Amino acid sequence: MYGEAVLTTRQEAETVHIGYMLGRAIESPLVIALEGELGTGKTALARGIAHGLGVAETVTSPTFVLLNIYSGRLPVYHLDFYRLEEMESCRLGFEEYLPGGGVALIEWADRFPALLPSRHLRVTLERFFDGEGEGRRLGFIPKDRPVALLVEGVLNRISWKVDGGLHLGSGPMPGDKEV
Ligand SMILES: Nc1ncnc2c1ncn2[C@@H]1O[C@H](COP(=O)(O)OP(=O)(O)OP(=O)(O)O)[C@@H](O)[C@H]1O
Ligand SMILES: [Mg+2]
Repeated sequence: MYGEAVLTTRQEAETVHIGYMLGRAIESPLVIALEGELGTGKTALARGIAHGLGVAETVTSPTFVLLNIYSGRLPVYHLDFYRLEEMESCRLGFEEYLPGGGVALIEWADRFPALLPSRHLRVTLERFFDGEGEGRRLGFIPKDRPVALLVEGVLNRISWKVDGGLHLGSGPMPGDKEV
């Protein structure tokens, strides 16, 4: 067990921003398992992560194509297991993307847990409602010590405003080149 970090967001832009900060911090191949019901923000988070990894293209849902590949600082493999069938998962040879030389972002990863390598970052997304309306609860569950350090680094770089919203700006990262 490497702990679990829970963050809440109130808008899609905040979920995208957390993804962006995570993507910026990633320096080596990794599998990120995104688990949550329909419309909880898996694609929004994936879009942020891809952007943080330097992907300039628009990131769209891979639900029907199963796999989209983007080029960033590392290749980004955006997968969706929602429509993956039992047999297909054996045939398609997704292993080469898990993580291969890139970063695999897998929506509905919990449908085929056996496909995941033991070293990965599990992210759970839940919708909640309270007196202030609707929000999302994001759980970050690292399955390996280096992944736990990655999550810790991201937590250190995000901050909240007094009204409870996230600061959407981002400071410099250790690896950034001086301009
Ligand atoms: N705090 C929030 N974070 C993310 N999305 C939010 C939030 N609040 C509302 N939303 C809305 O929820 C929806 C999330 O859609 P998204 O496609 O990212 O979900 P998904 O989990 O990928 O769904 P699917 O299971 O269909 O792939 C969007 O319409 C978004 O505007
Ligand atoms: Mg989606």
